[in-house]
Amino acid sequence: MERSDVHLPGTEDAAVGQIGPTGRALPAFPEPEPLTSTGPARVIAMCNQKGGVGKTTTTINLGAALAEYGRKVLLVDFDPQGALSVGLGVNPNVLDVTIYNLLVTRGHDIREVITTTRVPRLDLVPANIDLSAAEVQLVGEVAREQVLARILRPVLDDYDVILIDCQPSLGLLTVNALTAAHGVIIPLETEYFAMRGVALLVETIEKVTDRLNPRLTIDGILPTMFDGRTLHSREVVDSVVRHFGDQVFHTVISRTVKFPDATLAAEPITTYASAHRGAGAYRQLARELIARGGAP
Ligand SMILES: Nc1ncnc2c1ncn2[C@@H]1O[C@H](COP(=O)(O)OP(=O)(O)OP(=O)(O)O)[C@@H](O)[C@H]1O
Ligand SMILES: [Mg+2]
Repeated sequence: MERSDVHLPGTEDAAVGQIGPTGRALPAFPEPEPLTSTGPARVIAMCNQKGGVGKTTTTINLGAALAEYGRKVLLVDFDPQGALSVGLGVNPNVLDVTIYNLLVTRGHDIREVITTTRVPRLDLVPANIDLSAAEVQLVGEVAREQVLARILRPVLDDYDVILIDCQPSLGLLTVNALTAAHGVIIPLETEYFAMRGVALLVETIEKVTDRLNPRLTIDGILPTMFDGRTLHSREVVDSVVRHFGDQVFHTVISRTVKFPDATLAAEPITTYASAHRGAGAYRQLARELIARGGAP
């Protein structure tokens, strides 16, 4: 393939039939059909034990894009850093009850903790630093890997998609997310060593599939922070596609300062800079996920 044939993300509208940034022919991702009813939710865990690869950014913006397409979406902050909560304008440090309380004490209902966001159809379960104690506290529990699945059960019929933003670790909280999920999305930063650690993640996913959650599948690997101007970014995407083939989304998220800007503004990019190509990329990811059957 000629390098000059490579299609840059952000020009999606003209791209159908062309070669996408992943080096494969870019399929059409049609405008999703409106849904006639809500639920049961498909639960997706956003996982990579490597830090700073775009898990939280993808959770917020994929969630907001799915909500724009009429889907009812619940985002679950499952990282004690609370970045997902902050990124949606919620200060989790002033909250008395968060996902932590649901995990470690019985008698709470998740509906006590769910808050709406400024985006229609996009709700949030916040987390704060309290959650860092949950891992240790859960160790002695019966069915300690299934606690999050149990917590989510009462609201499965209220949402079309539930996205869980995992912390950068493969500990018990992440295993809980994988056990509660139908699918996993793995954001992968397009830089050298991006694949380091992915084998361990895939092994963890396989163990959870074998022992705890046979329905679990990898929905896709998402290249993030792609810089089309560098050969290096393209080489990383090429090698990820060689290794994982069709598991790699055709959609690639470019590196742009609009993402940290949107985080500072505590908004998804789809509302902060609706016409920006970064917003277009996450809308395309939402359409691709729906087209693949990863979301209703
Ligand atoms: N496509 C992008 N272009 C530029 N900056 C980005 C992009 N995606 C994310 N960022 C920025 O990179 C930083 C890390 O992103 P993010 O918080 O989404 O990663 P994470 O995987 O959730 O990190 P952690 O493992 O710490 O939870 C943030 O400052 C975010 O604004
Ligand atoms: Mg994060």
